Amino acid sequence: MAAFLLEVADVSKVFGGLVALKSVSFAIEEGEVVGLIGPNGAGKSTLFEVVSGGMRPTGGTIRYQGEDITNLPAHLRRRAGMSRTFQKIRLFNNLTVEQNLAVAAMQSTPAGRTWKSEVQSALIRLRLTGLVDRKPSELTLADRKKVEIGRAIVGHCRMLMLDESLSGLTRDEADDLVGEILALNRDLGVTILVVEHVMPVVMAMARRLLVLDYGTIIANGLPAEVARNPDVITAYLGTKKGAT
Ligand SMILES: Nc1ncnc2c1ncn2[C@@H]1O[C@H](COP(=O)(O)OP(=O)(O)OP(=O)(O)O)[C@@H](O)[C@H]1O
Ligand SMILES: [Mg+2]
Repeated sequence: MAAFLLEVADVSKVFGGLVALKSVSFAIEEGEVVGLIGPNGAGKSTLFEVVSGGMRPTGGTIRYQGEDITNLPAHLRRRAGMSRTFQKIRLFNNLTVEQNLAVAAMQSTPAGRTWKSEVQSALIRLRLTGLVDRKPSELTLADRKKVEIGRAIVGHCRMLMLDESLSGLTRDEADDLVGEILALNRDLGVTILVVEHVMPVVMAMARRLLVLDYGTIIANGLPAEVARNPDVITAYLGTKKGAT
């Protein structure tokens, strides 16, 4: 039996009267690149929150590296190599690019490695070395997104969750960043779960797609199959689904 890196079983999240996630189950193998898609409000960012430990699920279990982490604090998940970016970029605006990466590296670099070398390799990998002394407000959106990714990959990064890291970028900027994201998977073996709205981009990146709609996984499979799935087409057209 394949050992999964991440196993989400029967996870739900309720906000007051709103069911944002309803019995969500899926698993991801080490080394996969999986796309998570779904209409606005489907629950994608909420799923990232509960998987990364920003919020506790209302029900269900999350296993990572074979261990139940449902109640593990977020910083310990990060130290175990589970990292994420935020849909709304969260950088320290009063710190430089290098300092932003350093703060993350100091919190997540495992014993035996130094946070300074983690920062340097992330800067080189993301081609940010010319911008080390800049503040976030002096950067383009594409470079701010790269710094956000840099903060997620410094230290120990085994599973990376990207929440719309490509949105708002030009086609060339997005292609460039896709190349760098896929290199993380190819060169470092990082498992990637990516939320992205632009279908051609997500189809080019992911070898498997999960589709969320109103908090429920409605499809899980190869991108070409998912794109033909009638439930997925209906969800994206925004028409009311028939009784199930
Ligand atoms: N902290 C919160 N408190 C109350 N409701 C919330 C909270 N976070 C999200 N929601 C609601 O949960 C639902 C799912 O939101 P979520 O942000 O996860 O969707 P999403 O798929 O990421 O959407 P988008 O594509 O617009 O980013 C929405 O109805 C949203 O309003
Ligand atoms: Mg979202």
